[in-house]
Amino acid sequence: GLATALSSAVLAQDVSGKVIGFSQIGSESGWRAAETAVTRQQAEERGVDLKFADAQQKQENQIKAIRGFIAQGVDAILVAPVVATGWDDVLAEAKEAEIPVVLLDRGVDAPEDLYLTSVASDQVKEGRVAGEWLVEAVGDEDCNVVELQGTVGSTPAINRKAGFEEAIAGHDNITISQSQTGDFTRSKGKEVMEAFIKASNNAADICAVYAHNDDMAVGAIQAIKDAGLKPGEDILVVSIDAVPDIFSAIAAGEANATVELTPNMAGPAFDALAAYWADGTEPEKFIITESKLYTADSDPQGEYERRKDLGY
Ligand code: AHR
Repeated sequence: GLATALSSAVLAQDVSGKVIGFSQIGSESGWRAAETAVTRQQAEERGVDLKFADAQQKQENQIKAIRGFIAQGVDAILVAPVVATGWDDVLAEAKEAEIPVVLLDRGVDAPEDLYLTSVASDQVKEGRVAGEWLVEAVGDEDCNVVELQGTVGSTPAINRKAGFEEAIAGHDNITISQSQTGDFTRSKGKEVMEAFIKASNNAADICAVYAHNDDMAVGAIQAIKDAGLKPGEDILVVSIDAVPDIFSAIAAGEANATVELTPNMAGPAFDALAAYWADGTEPEKFIITESKLYTADSDPQGEYERRKDLGY
């Protein structure tokens, strides 16, 4: 009857009382900090006892943390894998211990049966959306793009590069003239952008910067200003994440476009675990979040404020 239907609906949402380990990468970017904050919030709202481990960008620390969670006998493990490779053994250990693992925001090169599900964006699409924006923005003009890549070996760096290249393929007026990692950080983004500007005969030869995340774009904007140029005009700026700081830059005319990556990966992860525990429902292997483009036309000031209100 209705009561049963209601109670099973409630049960399906229920992860309360569960102990869940979260191996987070670190705090390299504003987006990462937002994801950590949202995960803690989601855990608190749902009555989850969240065990948080910060790996300081090191895979070996993540592997240690996961082994620690297994030894403690947690109910589930969330992991945001810093790089794609090298996870098979530790994931197999979790499987052996019958602890479901959910990947957050980045993927792994490992057999799919070693994790319950992956909650992440379509990172190739993110790169494509950024690239399509640039194709449209430059029209027939010649354009040398410099690219700030994310962490070497991470799926967002690999996929965002591929998606962008896909979008500019066949547009011979657009060329990636320089490309290097800025490690997803603001300071590295600034440093590498300074080097790009130095390496080009004339800073004005650079028509656009494509950064794999907003933090590197914010660093690049500073480097462009320091070189006496106007970011957003002399050099177009397009990136990924949609954190508050890029919206202030867009509102100020210093950045042009960003692709949104939701920091709420934990919500869908907890929903999937709740359903799995309620009646064994196997979630989709890949739970894909949206990739929406924002520009100066999408109320950047309002977007900034909305995110600040959400506690970013
Ligand atoms: O994996 C997601 C990426 O990691 C975000 O785009 C970036 O800001 C973070 O460091």
